[in-house]
Amino acid sequence: MNYLDPLENTSDQLFEYIRVPPARDVPGLEEDARRGLLSQPRSLPPKYFYDDCGTELFEKICKTSEYYPTRTEDFLLKRHAKDIIETAKPNNIFELGSGSSTKTQRLLDACSEIAHFPSYTAFDISERALMFGGIELSKRYDWLQISLLLGDYEAGFMNVPRENGSRLVLFLGSTIGNFEQKHAIQFMKDLRNNMSQTDRLLVGFDRVKDRHILDAAYNDSQGITAAFNLNVLNVLNSELGANFEPENFSHLAQYDADKAQIEMHLVSSCAQRVMLNNLREFIDMDAGERIQTEISRKFTDQSLTRLLSDSGFVVEKDFVSPDKYFSLVLAQPI
Ligand code: SAH
Ligand code: TRP
Repeated sequence: MNYLDPLENTSDQLFEYIRVPPARDVPGLEEDARRGLLSQPRSLPPKYFYDDCGTELFEKICKTSEYYPTRTEDFLLKRHAKDIIETAKPNNIFELGSGSSTKTQRLLDACSEIAHFPSYTAFDISERALMFGGIELSKRYDWLQISLLLGDYEAGFMNVPRENGSRLVLFLGSTIGNFEQKHAIQFMKDLRNNMSQTDRLLVGFDRVKDRHILDAAYNDSQGITAAFNLNVLNVLNSELGANFEPENFSHLAQYDADKAQIEMHLVSSCAQRVMLNNLREFIDMDAGERIQTEISRKFTDQSLTRLLSDSGFVVEKDFVSPDKYFSLVLAQPI
């Protein structure tokens, strides 16, 4: 179903819906697959996880008992929402990779409570996530003006419409941890350059902890994370005319303590040839050979402070959960 067509510009629509054109050229799936799959070590960027099915599976991951980040960050947001809103005094709350915007409700509840009424903008690559979040928020907050931006945040922020007044930018879920350090700094600098001095950034950072807790969070017992990881093969099949057989791959996620990151792979369970028809290429994989699909970096006070300062931000407040599993950091552009 295409959600876009029924939405005409009428005054009673629930939200404004905008496709954000890329501000700079970013590789599409064909180029990413050519670069990532045809050479060793094989890898794919994580943004291709989030087709409709992947978006639904991600929501289910967030509800598993092993995946502590969602509930921990939600707890922190609930506890500190008023403080955050009173400090940032946003005219607009702008969320990157908003997903279902469920945790955002903690901040909007605080806005209702103190009668401070900003608008809300969600920016995501998944149309399904945007629609789900937008409908839910419009039901709950009758005062809220909602804009849904469909696009790739890695293609820059220059074409993002900007409202007057100050902005609170949200980047939750430790999604920043899915970028390599260099890429993270480049991304955050780009964001910084599109923020003004009175804007604020609220970022969720998953923290370094016992490896058993980390390994369990990315290997839930119901196999939802495995299904999420394997689903990217269906995306490659439909978008690239590939013929991956998901039954011939298995999910592998393990913590590398030296690098302080979870590394997620798809492991070929047999020797197999896979056709990538749209690329007019094929790959031969041995049994045990891997495709890296994701990293999820874990942070210390030092590494998160460093990442922010290297990108032009200073930590204003660091809200750490009592179990020290997660940090929610309010940062200010320098
Ligand atoms: N913030 C939510 C969702 C995190 S999952 C939470 O904390 O639970 C990451 C989200 O970022 C997904 O909704 C995904 O669709 C989106 N996303 C991933 N890569 C993106 C990109 N390059 N541009 C825009 N959105 C992206
Ligand atoms: N930002 C989330 C994280 O790194 C994304 C995520 C959670 C994820 N579980 C996943 C990505 C499983 C891939 C597979 O925790």
